[in-house]
Amino acid sequence: MQPIISISKLSKTYDTGFTALRGVELEIRRGEILALLGPNGAGKTTMISIICGLVNPSSGTVTVDGHDIITDYRAARSLIGLVPQELHTESFETVWDTVSFSRGLFGKKPNPALIESVLRDLSLYDKKDSQIMTLSGGMKRRVMIAKALAHEPAILFLDEPTAGVDVELRKDMWQLVRRLRAAGTTIILTTHYIEEAEEIADRVGVINKGELLLVEEKTELMRKLGQKQLMLELREPVKELPAALARYNLSLDDEGSQLVYLYDSQAARTGITSLLADLNKSGITVKDLNTRQSSLEDIFVSLVRERQ
Ligand SMILES: Nc1ncnc2c1ncn2[C@@H]1O[C@H](COP(=O)(O)OP(=O)(O)OP(=O)(O)O)[C@@H](O)[C@H]1O
Ligand SMILES: [Mg+2]
Repeated sequence: MQPIISISKLSKTYDTGFTALRGVELEIRRGEILALLGPNGAGKTTMISIICGLVNPSSGTVTVDGHDIITDYRAARSLIGLVPQELHTESFETVWDTVSFSRGLFGKKPNPALIESVLRDLSLYDKKDSQIMTLSGGMKRRVMIAKALAHEPAILFLDEPTAGVDVELRKDMWQLVRRLRAAGTTIILTTHYIEEAEEIADRVGVINKGELLLVEEKTELMRKLGQKQLMLELREPVKELPAALARYNLSLDDEGSQLVYLYDSQAARTGITSLLADLNKSGITVKDLNTRQSSLEDIFVSLVRERQ
C-alpha cells in the first residue's frame, strides 16, 4: 500500500540561520499510529508544521496522499487535522460554534450530528454552549481536538497532546485515538516520554537535533530498551579480560577497575549468575555492583556514536 505521507530530503533552516531539520526521510503508513519521540528543540513541531503547511520547507518534498504540500496545498491540508502544541482558542465563542466553524473552514457542509458525536466522544457535549474562556485547560485541549476532528480528517496530528493533561483525560484521549485508528485514521503524535510511545504507538520515530535517527516498530525499540547494564566494581584492577570470560558481552573501563555487562532484561536467562561464578573462578573479586536500565538517552547516544 502507498504510504499516506511521504517525506523526502526534508530540511528547514529558519530565518535566524538555525537549522531545525536535516534531510528527513520518512514514510508514514496508512492507518498507523506513529509516535515522534525527541527532546525539546529536536524539530518535532517544525516537521509537523511543514506537513500542515504552516512553515515552509527550505528543501525537500512532502506529499499527503499524493498531494504535494506546496503545489497542491488545499487538497493536502483538507486531509489533515492538527492539534497544535500551543493552545490558542477563541475566548468568547461557544464550544459548539467554534467546532462547527472549523468544519466550515474546510468547505464541508454543516453536519450537526457529526459535531455532536465528536463532542460526546470528548466528553464535551454538556459544555457545548459554554464560552471557551470559561473552560479549564484540559477542556480547552479537548476543544482543540474536537476542532481538528470536525472535518473528518484522514490524518490526525497531535503535537504533545498530554502536556498538562491529567491521568483521566490521558486515558480518554488514548481511547479516542484507538477508536480513530480502528476507523482508519492515521495518527501522528509527538511526545517526550517513551512510556507514552510504548502505550499507544505502532511505530516510533526518534528525532534529535533535526535528524530522524530511526523509525522502528515499537516492539523492536522496546527490545532495545530492554537492555540493561550491570556495573561491576572490581576489588583489584585487571589489565585485560581473561579468555574464560570472552563469551560474555563485557567491557572493561580504561583503569581496569570496572566491568560493564550488557544483558537483555527481558530474556529468560540474563547470564548474571554464571558470569559471577566465572568471574570468581578467574580470581576476579567484585567489590560492588549495580544495574542501570538503558534509557532513551542511551539510544540517542549510541545512535549518534554509530554515525560518527
Ligand atoms: N520560527 C522560528 N525561528 C527560529 N527558530 C525556530 C523557530 N521555530 C523553532 N525554531 C527552533 O527550531 C528548533 C526546533 O524547534 P521545534 O519547535 O521544532 O522543536 P520540538 O521538537 O517541537 O521541541 P519541543 O519538544 O520543545 O516542542 C528549536 O531549536 C527552535 O528554537
Ligand atoms: Mg514541539
